[in-house]
Amino acid sequence: MSRDQETGRTFKKLLTDAASRLSNRLEADILLTHLLRCDRGWLYAHATDPCPPEVESAYTRLVERRAAGEPVAYITGTREFFGREFLADRRVLIPRPETELLVERALELDLPECARVLDIGTGSGCIAITLCLERPHWQVSAVDRSELALQVAARNRDCLGARSLELLHGSLFEPVKERRFDLIVSNPPYVAAGDEHLSKGDVRFEPDLALVAGTDGLDLIRQIVSEAPGHLESGGWLLLEHGHDQAAAVRSLLIAAGLGGVGSCSDLAGIERASFGQAS
Ligand SMILES: C[S@@+](CC[C@H](N)C(=O)[O-])C[C@H]1O[C@@H](n2cnc3c(N)ncnc32)[C@H](O)[C@@H]1O
Repeated sequence: MSRDQETGRTFKKLLTDAASRLSNRLEADILLTHLLRCDRGWLYAHATDPCPPEVESAYTRLVERRAAGEPVAYITGTREFFGREFLADRRVLIPRPETELLVERALELDLPECARVLDIGTGSGCIAITLCLERPHWQVSAVDRSELALQVAARNRDCLGARSLELLHGSLFEPVKERRFDLIVSNPPYVAAGDEHLSKGDVRFEPDLALVAGTDGLDLIRQIVSEAPGHLESGGWLLLEHGHDQAAAVRSLLIAAGLGGVGSCSDLAGIERASFGQAS
């Protein structure tokens, strides 16, 4: 009888089998470190240890969920964003690396010391909470139409210590009717209804409300851009994430709304991912 049959598979064998099932070694590692609450260093140091049978069966269930398409972030319940761990589940969009570009751009803006900032469509709260923590003097408010998403944002706010963050329920500017801001930031839904990507990969598991915005994907962006000038202080900025092929359309909307200094910022691949404009 082999050692594996006597005592269960070793961690190394378990990982090799899972990596082959998922065609992805990194995901196999992430799922096992999540289950064992250890880091990858510990796993490699204990590679030849036999895996307890209860761990093996729990791990097999996680691997099968991933093999069925469920996003790793929903299985582990977390995703890293701007160096911090955010809770994420089916109530919210999984924070994306491209959204870090939006945050970087926001942090580069020349804003008042105690700038008033609004995040529209906050989801997990990743943008608003990061801005709160990176700029403790900013007064950040965040809106979402989804009460379920706001529950996740509230937990992230509490876990990450962004005590000053104001979370508001409602659509777009409705919860902040009479208020003005030095910065309005948003990663709104911007996928066109019927887009083929909606039926592929992780996106299949994410809330429709977080993804889809009309026939061309620009419905929410149009509304935000048209209403933003009435909620911006003089010199205030509107900064929006959008689809990889929407930059020119978004810049036109920003100009038509009377904003100045209109431009876009590109990711490392040179793709324009976010656009901005400034109130006069
Ligand atoms: C693309 S997700 C972005 C989530 C998060 N800000 C991020 O970057 O990961 C868009 C968010 O907008 C919210 N949303 C959709 N329509 C909205 C509306 N009319 N008013 C406010 N929020 C809305 C969704 O519930 C979702 O949380």
